[in-house]
Amino acid sequence: MKILVTGGTGFIGSHTCVELLNEGNEVVIIDNLYNSQADVVEKIEEITKKSVKFYEGDCCDEAVLEKIFSDHNIDAVIHFAGYKAVGESVQKPIMYYENNLMSTLALCKVMAKYGCKKLVFSSSATVYGNPNSVPIHEDFPLGPTTNPYGTTKLMIEQILRDVFVSDDQWSIALLRYFNPIGAHDSGLIGENPNDIPNNLMPYIVKVANKELPVLHVFGNDYDTHDGTGVRDYIHVVDLAKGHVNAVAKVLKDTGVDAYNLGTGNGYSVLDVVETFKRVNNVDVPYQVDPRRPGDIAECFASTDKALKELGWKAEKGLEEMCKDAWSYVSKVKKV
Ligand code: NAD
Ligand code: UD1
Repeated sequence: MKILVTGGTGFIGSHTCVELLNEGNEVVIIDNLYNSQADVVEKIEEITKKSVKFYEGDCCDEAVLEKIFSDHNIDAVIHFAGYKAVGESVQKPIMYYENNLMSTLALCKVMAKYGCKKLVFSSSATVYGNPNSVPIHEDFPLGPTTNPYGTTKLMIEQILRDVFVSDDQWSIALLRYFNPIGAHDSGLIGENPNDIPNNLMPYIVKVANKELPVLHVFGNDYDTHDGTGVRDYIHVVDLAKGHVNAVAKVLKDTGVDAYNLGTGNGYSVLDVVETFKRVNNVDVPYQVDPRRPGDIAECFASTDKALKELGWKAEKGLEEMCKDAWSYVSKVKKV
């Protein structure tokens, strides 16, 4: 099958391209390199020993999308392209609504025009807002979201549901990711933000690497086993494999369905810090600070639906996530 991957040079997109190629698919990438580098394409090719067609372009630009669809017979699309920084979305809501919504609308328009109606969309556990209980099931109430980034995901889910109502030939999987971390075990692709990271694992890595002095643990007075926030961390390679199964599902059926992609296990901030230190034999100094506004105590997925309907479940544990996150950054540092 020939799969168009928007945002394919990004963190999750690049790992997904590897898994798609490993399974014998052809891959076409469109990315405007807003948050990634072009050399990721060569890294994907180096890992898989297969070639990839890359278009540097913006998904809001219908003309570029039309060019891709007229150059290739695309069987299905995975739509990763978008902005994802929660804090920045509060500062720049228009930029977030414009990019995340317009890229999706342009994509759907061009897909419909070329008769390709198989779509896998990158949503987020953030659409559940503050859940009443854990584990979180897909039929839990959605929202209210706490920031414009999360609202774009909720709005896009609704837009895609409306698209299906208008034309039942569409087949759409809404994948709600929990907390993706780690990197490919080749050490060639991974996540290494240039700015000060907002998320836990990239921050830990920078402290371990002595680029930042200390990890700030946001609160130790939550109702959890050690008082720090609990999340469902998932290895990015497991997450990528979930996309391969989701593509198979949308190719086979029609409809619109949401799936949690998580492990179903919750780990606290201190569980992650201690595991990272132990498996990598490095120090991660930390101090406890007040809670971060908007954070919830505990968030982890029910994974039953993804197992039943996609035939997918995560395999890798926290130790592997911590090892792979560190080996990618140590390798980048050596280059
Ligand atoms: P990323 O920033 O690494 O990748 C996104 C890619 O999209 C980047 O390469 C960027 O250059 C590209 N892009 C952005 N806007 C574009 C546009 N208009 N046209 C073309 N390319 C564009 O992010 P990621 O972590 O790989 O996330 C991928 C998707 O998954 C995003 O939609 C994100 O919101 C969603 N998601 C991520 C997480 C997470 O924790 N990483 C969690 C839940 C959902
Ligand atoms: C983040 C996003 C959310 C997205 C989710 C999955 C934010 C505010 N929210 O949520 O929209 O759906 O990732 O990708 O970015 N922590 C610290 N110190 C730090 C960083 C984090 O103690 O420097 C703690 C947090 O309080 C939380 C846990 O670590 O308990 C995980 O935080 P983070 O990695 O930011 O992810 P989420 O808050 O789950």
